[in-house]
Amino acid sequence: MAGFHHGVHIALLGALLLAGALRTEASEIVVPPGSGMTVLIKQGTPTAAGRPCYIIVARRQVTMLLVKPGEKVSIVFSCPDPERYFVLEIQKNIDCMSGLCPLGEVRLQPPTSELPRLNRTFIWDVKAHKSVGLELQFPLPRLRQIAPGEKCQDGTSYSISGRIDATVVQIGTFCSNGTVSRIKTQEGVKVALHLPWFLSRNTSGFNITNRSSSIKRLCIIESVFEGEGSATLMSANYPEAFPEDELMTWQFVIPAHLRASVSFLNFSVSNCERKEERVEYYIPGSTTNPEVFKLGDKQPGNMAGNFNLSLQGCDQDAQSPGILRLQFQVLVQHPQNESNKTYVIDLSQERSMSLTIEPRHLKHGRKFVPGCFVCLESRTCSTNVTLTAGSKHTISFLCDDLTRLWVNAEKTISCLDPRYCYKRSYSLRVPGYILQLPVELRDFSWKLLVPKDQLSLVIVPAQKLQQHTQERVCNTSYSYLVGSSTGSHDFGYFCLGGSIERILVKENSSVTLRTFTSSFLQDVSRQSLTVSFIPNLKEEGIFTVTPDTTSKVYLRTPNWDRGMPALSSVSWNISVPREQEAYLTFYRERSGVVCQSGRAYMIIQEQQSQAEEIFSLEDDILPKPRCYHHSFWVNISNCSPASSKQLNLLFWVTLTPRTLDLPVIIIAVVGGGVVLLTVLLLIICLLKKKKKQLNKGPVVGIYNGHINTQMPRQPRKFPKGRADNDSHVYAVIDDCMVYGHLLQEGSNGSFLRPEVDTYRPFQGPMGDCPPSPPPIGSRAPTTKLSNDEALPCAPPESESEPYTFSHPHPHDGSQRDTDIPLLETQQPEKPAAE
Ligand SMILES: *[C@@H]1O[C@H](CO)[C@@H](O)[C@H](O)[C@H]1NC(C)=O
Ligand SMILES: *[C@@H]1O[C@H](CO)[C@@H](O)[C@H](O)[C@H]1NC(C)=O
Ligand SMILES: *[C@@H]1O[C@H](CO)[C@@H](O)[C@H](O)[C@H]1NC(C)=O
Ligand SMILES: *[C@@H]1O[C@H](CO)[C@@H](O)[C@H](O)[C@H]1NC(C)=O
Ligand SMILES: *[C@@H]1O[C@H](CO)[C@@H](O)[C@H](O)[C@H]1NC(C)=O
Ligand SMILES: *[C@@H]1O[C@H](CO)[C@@H](O)[C@H](O)[C@H]1NC(C)=O
Ligand SMILES: *[C@@H]1O[C@H](CO)[C@@H](O)[C@H](O)[C@H]1NC(C)=O
Ligand SMILES: *[C@@H]1O[C@H](CO)[C@@H](O)[C@H](O)[C@H]1NC(C)=O
Ligand SMILES: *[C@@H]1O[C@H](CO)[C@@H](O)[C@H](O)[C@H]1NC(C)=O
Ligand SMILES: *[C@@H]1O[C@H](CO)[C@@H](O)[C@H](O)[C@H]1NC(C)=O
Ligand SMILES: *[C@@H]1O[C@H](CO)[C@@H](O)[C@H](O)[C@H]1NC(C)=O
Ligand SMILES: *[C@@H]1O[C@H](CO)[C@@H](O)[C@H](O)[C@H]1NC(C)=O
Repeated sequence: MAGFHHGVHIALLGALLLAGALRTEASEIVVPPGSGMTVLIKQGTPTAAGRPCYIIVARRQVTMLLVKPGEKVSIVFSCPDPERYFVLEIQKNIDCMSGLCPLGEVRLQPPTSELPRLNRTFIWDVKAHKSVGLELQFPLPRLRQIAPGEKCQDGTSYSISGRIDATVVQIGTFCSNGTVSRIKTQEGVKVALHLPWFLSRNTSGFNITNRSSSIKRLCIIESVFEGEGSATLMSANYPEAFPEDELMTWQFVIPAHLRASVSFLNFSVSNCERKEERVEYYIPGSTTNPEVFKLGDKQPGNMAGNFNLSLQGCDQDAQSPGILRLQFQVLVQHPQNESNKTYVIDLSQERSMSLTIEPRHLKHGRKFVPGCFVCLESRTCSTNVTLTAGSKHTISFLCDDLTRLWVNAEKTISCLDPRYCYKRSYSLRVPGYILQLPVELRDFSWKLLVPKDQLSLVIVPAQKLQQHTQERVCNTSYSYLVGSSTGSHDFGYFCLGGSIERILVKENSSVTLRTFTSSFLQDVSRQSLTVSFIPNLKEEGIFTVTPDTTSKVYLRTPNWDRGMPALSSVSWNISVPREQEAYLTFYRERSGVVCQSGRAYMIIQEQQSQAEEIFSLEDDILPKPRCYHHSFWVNISNCSPASSKQLNLLFWVTLTPRTLDLPVIIIAVVGGGVVLLTVLLLIICLLKKKKKQLNKGPVVGIYNGHINTQMPRQPRKFPKGRADNDSHVYAVIDDCMVYGHLLQEGSNGSFLRPEVDTYRPFQGPMGDCPPSPPPIGSRAPTTKLSNDEALPCAPPESESEPYTFSHPHPHDGSQRDTDIPLLETQQPEKPAAE
């Protein structure tokens, strides 16, 4: 450091010399020995026209004067305006190669006020080892690079050059009004500070420090932006060729709330023999750093956060190297579109909800994507933000294109105490504070957790749902994915506008509202599902389907792509209105399933008659299209299939007006009169009521999905909170038991938070139980003939049972372990006559 303080002593002698009419001042220039400094006075270029002017040294007239360390000269000019003719160069060599390397704050020595009033250039020439990094620091004012030929307003400029071996490389010329705060080089650096003659100044405006490590490139130029602004920067030697196979880096420090865009103003590339000329960016938020661009590419814009940019040369063709050069601009401004809007997401009342705003998983390969950030109140911005329950969050966005983000939310509704949740229902709706975000909702997922083997769930949509199939795709803006809470399997996607009245699911499930288009927002008012806790089911799921007359209802087995889960069972309760008949059609002739263990079968049961058909899905041809006059069950139970022979069944139901069999309608037509109709309706109602009474005890039959140890057929009341130990046992649940509590008592109050009490009892025919499955082990004959006199729900255990395939008698050896009382009373029931 001391070396910089060995100043040149130049005294203004104050002597007035008369030379004709002109007055000049004499100056004494003293360069201390060992200062490593020289002072040179020489003619400016171009030399001024007109009468010549001389430096008068010891009465000699010269046009150039070099003062070396240890020398002392006294000079005077022969003209009154020497600044027009002469310039002054003060050069200091700093040698870091041979030990002492005096660095630190760079002083202007001598102060300009003590120098002849000539344009001055202070030159600091630092030589260092290749392994030593040198850093020039420019505290305020920072520097602004100018193109060759450009001038600085105040006449003050810095020319900075580096060195590659013996070759000088021009890094750039800078004015003191810009963003460049540091310039790092290795192997040495030369700074020339040009000051016009009229300016007096006593500081150099920069520091030099040495870093023990090499920067491994020609230079690094750091720009710091305090606010909005721009910087134009150039490759070394611009507009001449960038040195062959070199690397130069620009670093940019950008305030968090601003955005930076790079544009290339002027460039050319050389003829590369090996490697490729390119620019590489490190951009916060980019997952593919470094982002590599060709010089001809469109460069990144709207980058948030600090970034850096490197120019990499190539091995050039020696014959015709061409010229690599680059002039570019960095523009820093406020984010243009999303402005400074803030959004409040109040999760303070939530207990178990989280919301993540994260980058959409778009595939862009190596294509560049600018940073896209979510900022929390505190202005900490990140690409992936998760907001948790229990507090209120204020967020804003720093993102050029908000469609690159999406929101995923998850809320858990769990039942801890069955007695408590039993009567509860919850509305599943996406909260408004998510819909108001400028970012698209992707998934809103409700995890519905119930105590194992104690409770199940019924999901009731405000409007009937359609199952997504290839044959009838869900083309709505959103769908519900109903699946297991662990994601191990799913029941499929369901969207509005179908025939599914409700879905009963056995176990912990998740319902995910997934959006597909942004028009979701327009349809959002129609979204609503209600979920209620019901007694435990034995089947994986039961779908209640009420087709309308206008369209086919396509239905398919759960977990379509991967195959229905092993040893699970699903039922569809398909309503057939009185005046209609239903056609059930299977898509394929055979199911194609191959069982490793257990058996896969299907039961179709008319609910009124209890007529049951049983098909082995392994062996039998699936039923031909068949007509059903009454509501019926379809039950499909899976075995443990061979992995490549999974069970997937697709079927559809169509309704057509019933052709015969409708004396009521005929009579109505004949009678014609309104009165008669009214009477008829009355009769029907009475009949219906009577039937209801007879049917008092409609039951929903439910059995264990893992059916290998089935199953007595006795109805059994569902014992609340019963122990699990008989969970393998077939249970029959009274319909009133299942839903009665929901009908009778409103669900005011809830174990989480009362939300909406919208449970709507299903009004259609729902009295019968799904068919009970045959034992899996049994290789009994399959197709079943029905007996219209069969008892509903729980067929008799008697040997006289007319089915050729009967459910195992509880005294079968294999069923010894059952503890179900055999003689539990059963409601006798006759099918109501039409
Ligand atoms: C001194 O610098 C000014 C610009 O700052 C320039 O116009 C002038 O020609 C220079 N003088 C000489 C002698 O080079
Ligand atoms: C330059 O050095 C001086 C003295 O060492 C120090 O006070 C100043 O903060 C330094 N400036 C920078 C930008 O490092
Ligand atoms: C600083 O730069 C800006 C734009 O680059 C210019 O408008 C302004 O006049 C400059 N100020 C000085 C003192 O050079
Ligand atoms: C440099 O000049 C400023 C005023 O321009 C003055 O305050 C300061 O003391 C001077 N510093 C030195 C080291 O001469
Ligand atoms: C800078 O140079 C000095 C003198 O050569 C040396 O003592 C010091 O360790 C160097 N600093 C670094 C960071 O290399
Ligand atoms: C690019 O630089 C070249 C050489 O300096 C110049 O001739 C040309 O006009 C520049 N082009 C633009 C668009 O500035
Ligand atoms: C550029 O930025 C990346 C990431 O911040 C950093 O790892 C790398 O060292 C930087 N390179 C230079 C030369 O600044
Ligand atoms: C948002 O920007 C407007 C003007 O662009 C400004 O008036 C307002 O104060 C800003 N709001 C915040 C919260 O920064
Ligand atoms: C965002 O963060 C969440 C939680 O840490 C993580 O699950 C998710 O994968 C992240 N998303 C991306 C795109 O990195
Ligand atoms: C910003 O908004 C303007 C008009 O409002 C639009 O033309 C432009 O495409 C938007 N830019 C981005 C990146 O969204
Ligand atoms: C459902 O989730 C609850 C709570 O996490 C857990 O206790 C229960 O065992 C789960 N049920 C099943 C069948 O895994
Ligand atoms: C969506 O599907 C329904 C029938 O499934 C059809 O009527 C409607 O035109 C479809 N809409 C679009 C946009 O494809």
